[in-house]
Amino acid sequence: MPHLADLSRQAQWNQTEADWTRLLTLAPAGCFGIEADGRIVASTTAISYAPELAWIGMVLTHPNYRGKGMATALLEHTLGTVKAQGTRIAKLDATSEGRPIYAKLGFKDECAVERWRRAPGLRFETPAGEQHVLHPYVIDPSFDRAYFGAYRIPLLQSLAKQIEPEYFVGHGYALHRPGAQARHFGPSVVRTRDAARRLLESFLAKFPNDEIFWDLLPDNSDAIQLAIDHGFQPARHLVRMSLACQPNALPLVHNNSSVFAIAGFEYG
Ligand SMILES: CC(C)(COP(=O)(O)OP(=O)(O)OC[C@H]1O[C@@H](n2cnc3c(N)ncnc32)[C@H](O)[C@@H]1OP(=O)(O)O)[C@@H](O)C(=O)NCCC(=O)NCCS
Repeated sequence: MPHLADLSRQAQWNQTEADWTRLLTLAPAGCFGIEADGRIVASTTAISYAPELAWIGMVLTHPNYRGKGMATALLEHTLGTVKAQGTRIAKLDATSEGRPIYAKLGFKDECAVERWRRAPGLRFETPAGEQHVLHPYVIDPSFDRAYFGAYRIPLLQSLAKQIEPEYFVGHGYALHRPGAQARHFGPSVVRTRDAARRLLESFLAKFPNDEIFWDLLPDNSDAIQLAIDHGFQPARHLVRMSLACQPNALPLVHNNSSVFAIAGFEYG
């Protein structure tokens, strides 16, 4: 664990030891590393949202070991495993450093993904007379799947355990978690912009003094507008990429218009 945490820290990523533990717990057969000089120096993870989708993340090589083919070797091994399991599609969110490696392995660009950041201490005004009627989160597998495109209830359950998640009955949910640099807002899948706003404002009211990261799909213009309205600014640009793992695999049916926050670059 100290080696893994060091890898993400070196890259100035937001994952904590709890995030690494979650990935290792949810994907015990999908996480791989390379050991050299008595420590783990390169990693990949692949969560299986079986049978449709494998989500690849945490592609990290220690700065002293880069350019030796470690990330490529780990990805080839991971893809071999994913294909052997019969998974239809593999996806990931690529940084500019990772993207050429994935493109060489056959991944195609799907859409943009962005991290938006909100500085600590910003205030916002809740519209006068508005009362938030939010409820404890109830997991509804078919609701999330209809928008995300695959079954990821074990992930949502694991994320929900860490906090008191909120659900706007009939409209959707928002989760969040602590991070190494900032509190992470998401995933949030909500049917309407107004319901998404209420969930966001309820979350922001709880953490007024925290720096917040929110990873969103800019295709969803309502999410962008909400981010702007609440003092977020774009901080990082990534590219979502996908690879068909079986011959003639059909693309996943998903609907980004209600995905207000992704779960994370490492989860989708
Ligand atoms: C992206 C990253 C994982 C690549 O790791 P790596 O083990 O160095 O990758 P590889 O050795 O397999 O290199 C893949 C390609 O990049 C080139 N490359 C990678 N690092 C290089 C370096 N420091 N100098 C020169 N070339 C380099 C390699 O030459 C290779 O190209 P080739 O196939 O044409 O020879 C690593 O740079 C890293 O951890 N970056 C920070 C975190 C990050 O952005 N991860 C990707 C998340 S999507």
